[in-house]
Amino acid sequence: MVKLINLSLVWSLFFNLLAFHLVAQQNMTNVYGRRVQLLNGKWDAIVDLYDQGRKNKIYLNKKPENKTDFYEYAFENGIRLNVPSDWNSQMSELKYYEGTIWYGRKFDAVEASGDRLFLYFGAVSYRCRIYLNGKEIGQHEGGFTPFQVEITDAVKENDNFLVVEVNNTRRIDAIPAMAFDWWNYGGITRDVFLVSTPKVFIDDYFIQLDKNKSDKINAQVKLSEKLANSFVTIEIPELQLKRTLETNAFGEVKTSFTSTEIKRWSPAVPKLYHVKISTQTDKIEEEIGFRNIGVRGEDILLNGQPIFLKSISFHEEIPQREGRAFSQSDALMLLCEAKALGCNMIRLAHYPQNEYIVRMAEKMGFMLWEEIPIWQGIDFENESTKKKAVKMMREMIARDKNRCALTFWGVANETQPSEQRNAFIRHLIATCRSMDTTRLITAAFDLVRFNKEKEIFVMDDPFIKELDVVAVNKYLGWYHHWPVSPDKAVWDVAKGQPLIISEFGGEALYGKTGEKDVASSWSEDYQATLYKDNLKMFKHIPNLRGISPWVLFDFRSPFRFHPTNQGGWNRKGLVSDQGYRKKAWYLIKEYYENNL
Ligand code: GCU
Repeated sequence: MVKLINLSLVWSLFFNLLAFHLVAQQNMTNVYGRRVQLLNGKWDAIVDLYDQGRKNKIYLNKKPENKTDFYEYAFENGIRLNVPSDWNSQMSELKYYEGTIWYGRKFDAVEASGDRLFLYFGAVSYRCRIYLNGKEIGQHEGGFTPFQVEITDAVKENDNFLVVEVNNTRRIDAIPAMAFDWWNYGGITRDVFLVSTPKVFIDDYFIQLDKNKSDKINAQVKLSEKLANSFVTIEIPELQLKRTLETNAFGEVKTSFTSTEIKRWSPAVPKLYHVKISTQTDKIEEEIGFRNIGVRGEDILLNGQPIFLKSISFHEEIPQREGRAFSQSDALMLLCEAKALGCNMIRLAHYPQNEYIVRMAEKMGFMLWEEIPIWQGIDFENESTKKKAVKMMREMIARDKNRCALTFWGVANETQPSEQRNAFIRHLIATCRSMDTTRLITAAFDLVRFNKEKEIFVMDDPFIKELDVVAVNKYLGWYHHWPVSPDKAVWDVAKGQPLIISEFGGEALYGKTGEKDVASSWSEDYQATLYKDNLKMFKHIPNLRGISPWVLFDFRSPFRFHPTNQGGWNRKGLVSDQGYRKKAWYLIKEYYENNL
């Protein structure tokens, strides 16, 4: 009996293979250090609410060729959207839009000087498919990390047509999942470049100070091809360091430099060194800082010295524009407000933010906590979700591993204890450590509770022992009433480990005065009382090594319904959505300046 081949199995294998091939590649390191052709600007767009576009192959952008032809779409003369930007803030009809929008534009590969050409996307939210000249060439899932697609063999010198199918529909197996306290912005939300490179180029490098030494710089460089006996030169002119090495069979070189002249990076002195990497056919340069970060008992050590983290969180959003932040000037606005507050650290909530923010924060002297959006409601039992999380983590670390300001990788925010959660997060921790042993791993928990018998705050999630630093989100005076007076509060949480309060705060509508002991007044007076109370309590937490008020600016959220106090905004900002500082801002400013 001839065994019938299960055709559906063959097809699914074929499409899986094809899909695997179409998954966008992990980014080459430091795209911003290369000569690129910008594809930013106005793109044509088609709103495809019922997802009809792909089956109608609108990416072919066909035009009638005879009397009987007709097409019920055209990219030209329709709506046009700014790239980069979210679509929600560009048209009132798109404010709540959740679905598919097709972006299309022509381009000539005018500046393609190299042998190879790549399309680079800083981020597309949330999932996308890329089509070039009528052919699907790549896919990506994840709204906050970069990806690239090689187009060397698919691009024409002139008159290329690039189409990006973008969808931001929330899904239970996505990261984040179905409900999260920020706006579900969709679109091509970061830069789009054409990147040209030589045939063999410097694909990746990791140059950082040794975790435990102040005079040893570890460097590894990887070529785009597994090319042995090729030569790579690494140079740090200011330290008179220069070495040429021969690649191994994988096209890699690994070395260490020793120098007693290294001035280590810190928030006070954010020293960066010019680093050059070159081969016979390629060269790339950038500014890299060198610092040690570690833990000793309950202390966080920066360059061997205990440091208290004067942190703040912000979303990647410009409230005055009601949209995603994406430019250098956006980064400057957010970071200058954090600098004015007196911070030495920023928790980039709750997802990898754009590279302008990360690089500028490093130059301005902020330590950074970066995380992928493992934010409540993640499907920890779903293998495909775990794979997505690992891929996002890898893309984040690949992009930012040379940023010395990045001192903490956050692996979760407010997850509930379970074996599935532990296994999932352990996998993320292993991913971090496999790519980077120099940074501290942390996670934010909302599990601190008040033990009435002992009259102390406790947290019983054994998982915290697996972290370098324990972080706690605790909203006393807002979501939780004070069980004791703040100055009598005793904490027994994560003893023996450094503890950060990664979120605390409460809401206030800018300009609203009211009873300072009535939460529903939504007044600045109440918010100020809440901050004073929390700051009093912090003085009694023995292993507290940092605080990060939630949040720098009011931000948009579909969670926030109150018509007069919120109107779709989370009002926990120390600064209003119009850029005005509330009373609590001045309390933190004073606390950071005079109490630490
Ligand atoms: C949580 C969460 C934040 C959220 C905040 C709030 O702790 O981590 O993303 O915005 O609480 O409720 O305002």
